[in-house]
Parts: sequence; C-alpha cells; structure tokens
Amino acid sequence: MFILPDLPYASGALAPVISEATLLTHHGKHHARYVESTNALLANGDASPATLEDVVRRAARGDTSLFNNAAQAWNHAFFWRCMRPGGAPVPDALAAAVALAFGDQAGLRSEFLAKGAAHFGSGWLWLVARGAVLSVISTHDAGSPLVDPGLTPLLVCDLWEHAYYLDHRNDRTGFLIAWWDQLVDWSFVGAQLDAAIADEAGWRYPEAVA
Ligand SMILES: [Fe+2]
Repeated sequence: MFILPDLPYASGALAPVISEATLLTHHGKHHARYVESTNALLANGDASPATLEDVVRRAARGDTSLFNNAAQAWNHAFFWRCMRPGGAPVPDALAAAVALAFGDQAGLRSEFLAKGAAHFGSGWLWLVARGAVLSVISTHDAGSPLVDPGLTPLLVCDLWEHAYYLDHRNDRTGFLIAWWDQLVDWSFVGAQLDAAIADEAGWRYPEAVA
C-alpha cells in the first residue's frame, strides 16, 4: 500500500498564501482520501505495483477510477514538494532554459498566470520539460504529464478550488500570483530539469510498503 507522505514543512509555514486551515484539510483530508482510495482499488485487483508512477501510467490505459485517485495522490505529493516557505532562487541552468522558451523569468510568469486564469474548472497547471525544452500546460481533473513518457514535470500548482477558496475565495489569479512570488521552490524545479536533461526519472512518490 502507498502512504500519505508527510508535508515537507510545518502546516502553518505557507501562510498567508496557503493558510494552516487550508493545508491541514488539503493534505490531511483531500490528499489522504486519494491515497486511501488508490489502496482500496489496488486491493481489489491482482497487481501489486511498487511505484505509484506505474499505477498512474497503467491505469491511464482504461481504469478511470484508479487513474483519478492514483494521479491525484501523485499530483498532490508533487505539489507539496514544489513549495518552500519563502521560495528559493532560480538556478542558472533553469534560468537559461526559461530564457530560451519564454524570454526570461517574467515571460514564464506571464505564461503561467495566463494559462492558469484561462483553465476552465478543476485541474493542474504545470511547467514541464521535454529534454531541455520547457512548456506550460494545464491538465483537467486528475490529468498528469506522467502519461506522456517524454515529459518530465518540473512544477505544478493545484487549480482545484479546494486549494485556494478558503484563503482567496474565487480569486484564482490572486492565489497564483502570491503562490508564484512567495512559495515556489525553484531549486526543486531546477533539480527536475537536471533530471529531464539527463533522461532520469526525477522526483518519485515513496514506494509502496507491504
Ligand atoms: Fe488538491
């Protein structure tokens, strides 16, 4: 079975952008439920996969219920890892890739905010890499770039209303601006780009335990 990974910081550490109340519910209720449902669905099947990445990729071929829960479990754990209280500077190699794709960091920020504002309904907003080539994409519901073997996710923001409604009401763009300016762990994003360029897996969900 898969575990719910602990948050990599204290539950109040991302306030006021993400309040402690939001984070406790989001991690302890929403994320926990996706992990529980994934484990329950796997217990009813024959396979006992070791990695959640395998579950997501296999379920994408036709098991919608398992895909939705497994991908949501993965996406949330990745989302927690993409943030750090106070943020972090952009590493040089990442800045160079950003310059090629978007002109500069401000260009990437504009693209990210525009895609986030334009996304209809629930989903996820990603910075992804195909090798060293960056792009911004959004996915609906539980959608995951893991289903495209050539893509490495570098950064994600949760666009479901449960991620921001308590703190920002319906102001998704206000949430995205505060999140981008104050919480993104660019050192983690840079490490994911390094993995993409080296054709390595990058961050992985903790392996299943017996
Ligand atoms: Fe969420």
